[in-house]
Parts: sequence; C-alpha cells; structure tokens
Amino acid sequence: MYLSKKSIKLLGLLLILVCTLVRCETQQIAAWRQQKNYAVNALYRHADAASGVALLQKLADSGVTEAHADLLFARLLGTGMTQDLETVAKDSAALVQEGEARAHTTQALLLAHNFTKEPKENEELAIEALYHYTIAAVKGDPLGEIVLAGHYARKGDCDSAMYNYKKAANFAIREISEEIVMSVEVKPYVYKEDYPKGAPKPPSPIEFEYLANLARYGDAQAAFQIGAVLSSGVPGVAKDQKQAAIYLQQAAKGNNTQAMVALANLHLHKMIEPNYAEALKLIKTAFQYGEVGAMTALGRMYMYGLGSLRRNLVEAIHFLEISVANGHLEALYLLGVIYDGPDGPGNMEDAIRLWEIPASLGHVHSAFRLAEAYRKKMEKAPATTLKLGSSYDVSERLCQKAMPLYRLVAMAGEWRHLMEAAYLDFNSGLHTQALLKYLLLSDMGYSEAHVNAARLIDNHADQVYEDENAMSTQSLLSWKRAANSGSPVGHLKLGDLYYYRQDFRKAITYYENAGDLPEALFSLAYMVEWGEGSLANFNAAKTMYESLAEKHGEAQFPVTLTLARMEIFLFLNNTCGIDLYKTPVNDYVIALIDIENLENFTSKLFVNSDSSNWDLLVMALLLVLIFFMLVVRQNNH
Ligand SMILES: *[C@@H]1O[C@H](CO)[C@@H](O)[C@H](O)[C@H]1NC(C)=O
Ligand SMILES: *[C@@H]1O[C@H](CO)[C@@H](O)[C@H](O)[C@H]1NC(C)=O
Ligand SMILES: *[C@@H]1O[C@H](CO)[C@@H](O)[C@H](O)[C@H]1NC(C)=O
Repeated sequence: MYLSKKSIKLLGLLLILVCTLVRCETQQIAAWRQQKNYAVNALYRHADAASGVALLQKLADSGVTEAHADLLFARLLGTGMTQDLETVAKDSAALVQEGEARAHTTQALLLAHNFTKEPKENEELAIEALYHYTIAAVKGDPLGEIVLAGHYARKGDCDSAMYNYKKAANFAIREISEEIVMSVEVKPYVYKEDYPKGAPKPPSPIEFEYLANLARYGDAQAAFQIGAVLSSGVPGVAKDQKQAAIYLQQAAKGNNTQAMVALANLHLHKMIEPNYAEALKLIKTAFQYGEVGAMTALGRMYMYGLGSLRRNLVEAIHFLEISVANGHLEALYLLGVIYDGPDGPGNMEDAIRLWEIPASLGHVHSAFRLAEAYRKKMEKAPATTLKLGSSYDVSERLCQKAMPLYRLVAMAGEWRHLMEAAYLDFNSGLHTQALLKYLLLSDMGYSEAHVNAARLIDNHADQVYEDENAMSTQSLLSWKRAANSGSPVGHLKLGDLYYYRQDFRKAITYYENAGDLPEALFSLAYMVEWGEGSLANFNAAKTMYESLAEKHGEAQFPVTLTLARMEIFLFLNNTCGIDLYKTPVNDYVIALIDIENLENFTSKLFVNSDSSNWDLLVMALLLVLIFFMLVVRQNNH
C-alpha cells in the first residue's frame, strides 16, 4: 500500500507534534524534579522554609504527587508551616500506602519517638521505626539512608554502613561548597552549659549588633567578621551572600587582606555574580601583603583557568605548594585534586597523602575524595583473609577508613541546617517544633541533637507526652544516645539516673566518664563521703571536694558549703559522739542538703555565678543545720 504525499506529510507533522508533546512533558517533569529538590532543600533552612513550602504547594496542586509527602514532612517538623502532629500521624499512614519515600521517613520519626501514642513497648516501636527508615532509604531518601547507615555502623557491619552513607554523601556533596569545614561549624546548644570547653558559640544578637556598629564606623576587622558570619550563616543570622559581599568590600577597602580573599572566593565559588577580573585584582593585592589564602585562590584560578588566566597546572601547583607549606586546608585539597587528575604530575597515592590532613580536620570535599579513593582501593583489594600471624582483612580495613569519611560528608548535607532552624525555634519559644527537628537529627546521629532533644523532653515535652511514663522513656533514650556519643553531660545525667535508682556501681562508672564535669566530680566525692558504692572515706572525700574546687572556680561555693558541713559532722562526732553519718536523722539531713538540692542551686550558680548572696545562703543553711543537730541532741538525751 502506498501513502499519498499528502498523508506522509500529515503523518510527519503528527509525529513531530507527538514528539514535541512528549519532550515537553519530560522536560516539564525534569523541571519539576529540579524545583522539588530545590524546595526540599529549602525546608531545612529556617530563612527559606516558607518559600520551599509555597513551591511544594504549587507543585502538589499541579499534580506532582510526591510533593504531598514533602509537605507532610514540613508539617511534622514545623518548618515553613505550622506544626500539626495529629494531622501528620493520620495522613502519613495513607501516604505510606502510596509508597512515598519521605512519607516513610515521617512515619519512622513518629514511631521512633512514640508520637503515634500506641501502647507498645520501646523495642517494638524501635523495630517498626527502623523498618520505615529502611524503606525510605531503599527508595532513596538520604535522611533514611543516614539513619540506616548509623544502625549498621553500630552493629559493626561496615560494608552496609558505608554503602548507605555513600548514597547520602553522593547526594549531599553536590550542594556543599568547597570551603566547608565541618569541625568549625557552630553547633548550637539550647542550654549554655552544654557547650564543651572551647567550642565555638554563636554570636549573641548583642555581639552581632556591636560588630555591625563597629563596621559602620569603619572598623575593617569588624566588617570582615560580619561579612564572614553573613557568608557562612550562623544560628540567628541568615546566610546572605550579597550583604556579605558589601561588608567584605568595605573591609577590603580598609586593607583587610582576609576580607579581600574572602570576597574573591565569593566570586570564584559563584556565590555572587562572578566577576573574575575583580577577584584577580583582590587576590593580587592580598598576595602582595603575603596573605596565604590569596595563594590558594590564585592557584585555583590557574587550576581551572578562570577569567583572563589560562589554565596552567605548573603555575597552579607553584602557588598551591606555597599555601600547603603554610598549612592551608583548601590548598591541600586542590593540590590533591591536581595530583589525582588525568594530567597532573602525581598519582592517587600522592593525592591520598594530601587529603588525609584536611579530611581529618573536617574539610568535607577532601573527605569525599579520600573516601572515594579508599573505596576504589577496596574494590581492587583481595577479599580473602590474609593470614599474617593474626588474620586481617584488607578490604575491611579500607572500609573502616572510608565509612567515617562518607559519614562526615553525609552529615554535611543541607539537612544539617535543621540544627540551626531548631535552635531558632527554641529561641522563639516553639519548643515542640524544635523538639521534632532535634529528634530527627538525633535519629540521624548528630551528637548535639541528642543532648538538645533530651533537654527539651525534660523541660518542655509535657504537652507532647501526656503520659509521664512515655516521656521519661523518651528522655532516657535521648540521654543514653548522648552518653554513647561521648557527651559528658549525657554521662552525668545517666549517672544521676542510676544514683536515684540506688545502682551506685553504674552511677560511679557514668560519673567517672563525665569528662571532669564539676557536678559529676561532686557526686563522686559525695558518694565516697557517704559510702555509696564504696566504703565511706571521710578524708578521701574531703580531698576530692577540695581538688574539685581547685579545678573549677564555679564549684567553690557548693564545696565550701559541703566542707563546712563536714567540719560540723566531725566536730559533733569528736565532741559529743554523734555520728551523723550513721544516725537515722541522716534522712533529714540528706533531704536538706542532698544532691538534688545542691544540684539545683549549683546549676543556678553556674548560670549566675556572680550572684553576691552566697554568704547569706551559707549562713542560712548552716543555721538550719545547727537547728537539726540540736534536735538530734535532744532526741539522744
Ligand atoms: C591601604 O594601603 C594603601 C597602600 O599601602 C594606603 O595608601 C592606604 O592608606 C591604606 N588604607 C587604609 C584605610 O589603611
Ligand atoms: C507510648 O505512648 C503510649 C500512650 O501515650 C504509652 O501507653 C506507651 O507506654 C508509650 N510507650 C513507650 C515505649 O514509652
Ligand atoms: C566518728 O567517731 C567514731 C568513734 O569515735 C570513729 O570511729 C569514726 O571514725 C568517726 N567518724 C569520722 C567521720 O571521723
């Protein structure tokens, strides 16, 4: 059968039309997908969450069903919209049926922390939660992948842990800019006391305002600091590269060389509309002043042939090596990338050596490259066990190196901004919103989140958990996680818990691991004094109290008080033969000066240590004590 010319033409036209429609459709879907990714990432950032929700709403209305699960997730965390746990609990079950990855994550978080209010045991809830996190992971939700990876890591299954962290890391690395170093990021605690010694704290609004004022009056260093804060974004101060550039510009005009490099880097990393000529000018000026960062930036420009500079690896290596000699992390990273590259002069081994330092310090891109390098070696390594006296598995050892690096990258994903968002919620009094965010981060293994979640449960969760038991179960869970992740305050809390349960041996172990926290040292001394968990030893306890006061100035007051009490005990024992450590009246005395009371006002003191009422308090307490002792005497006679 022959087709007429006309019908061939028509057929052709029809074909073209269909193709265009299909292409349009796939293009539309691709565009949606991209928009959805953007919107989901926006949910993690406090400043952008509302716009993320608006975009998701639009996508949902135009028929992108996946967006519903993301909206539900936003409602669960209270990010970009009002939190509503009951609605979420109802709707997520239905969405889970439809198989949305994020719906499984939502369901998992609800179950893991008993928000579905089912009369189930902890074990059972944990297993069901893990089941949903696992499905979320399999369906490609990076949050689920991280939770699952953590589960395998704790079980000692390195391969599975690495596999899941790697998946999340691959997703995360795309959004992570090359200068990010995780260890210098500020991780806010809701309680000031929880900051480990020397850890960076977010600037208070007053400090920030003060710096901004200094900058306004032309202080270049202050302008640089404000610019740096705005560029990285810290809790309470939203990231704003354009504003950052203005401050950095001002600082650069005041001859601040760090600001010149920082501003140049905003251009080089395309965080503002890049102007490579401007960047080069800044770098050259900073270079003349001998600023190390300028050499790295210049190396980067040669390495990638940015602006008017032609790509020139010899020049790049020259400048990067100067920076490397000065210990600049990013230079180590870039030099490694050149060595590992196809036209670099080195090989992967050289690159690995260079990346090891910045990776160990938390430089995310170095960690990622290094993890990939180890994994490549793993694939080549013989899987058999070598017998060399003791047996060890090459592949297992490489996994042990690669897995924590992938973890570092995975933890640096955009979702890490939920930590700041939660902190801001807490500051605005939105405790339940903060709690849900911290609980998710805690499930994902962020150690600061364990402590913050536990604090919020202890102090603000009574509306969430009507059931007293459910609440204390959750509190214990979070403190246990905190302790397991090495948090001193976690150990202290578990020590207290076991102390009240009269399990003194366990209490002592936890107190001893509480990293020299004054409250823990105090409890240990107290236990020695009263013979709890060991034989009572008056003098040893005294020494312990004294050394505590020497180590921690802020413990001076409770220690003085305690030592005074011990003197009275000793005096009564020696002169009247009343051993207050043995008499039944103990209970009263303890009730009066027991650890909880002391803890209460020591904790107040630690917060408010310049209070001038100490002596009054001491006297009042001693008076009450003497009164009790008189009562005891009367009873004895
Ligand atoms: C910056 O340095 C230049 C050249 O060294 C100098 O002329 C200028 O006065 C300096 N500006 C400030 C604000 O210190
Ligand atoms: C979960 O909550 C319910 C109701 O509030 C309670 O009966 C149950 O004991 C809780 N489960 C756990 C493990 O705390
Ligand atoms: C109290 O006195 C008794 C008997 O004199 C003595 O054995 C005991 O060690 C004394 N206790 C303290 C704490 O000094």
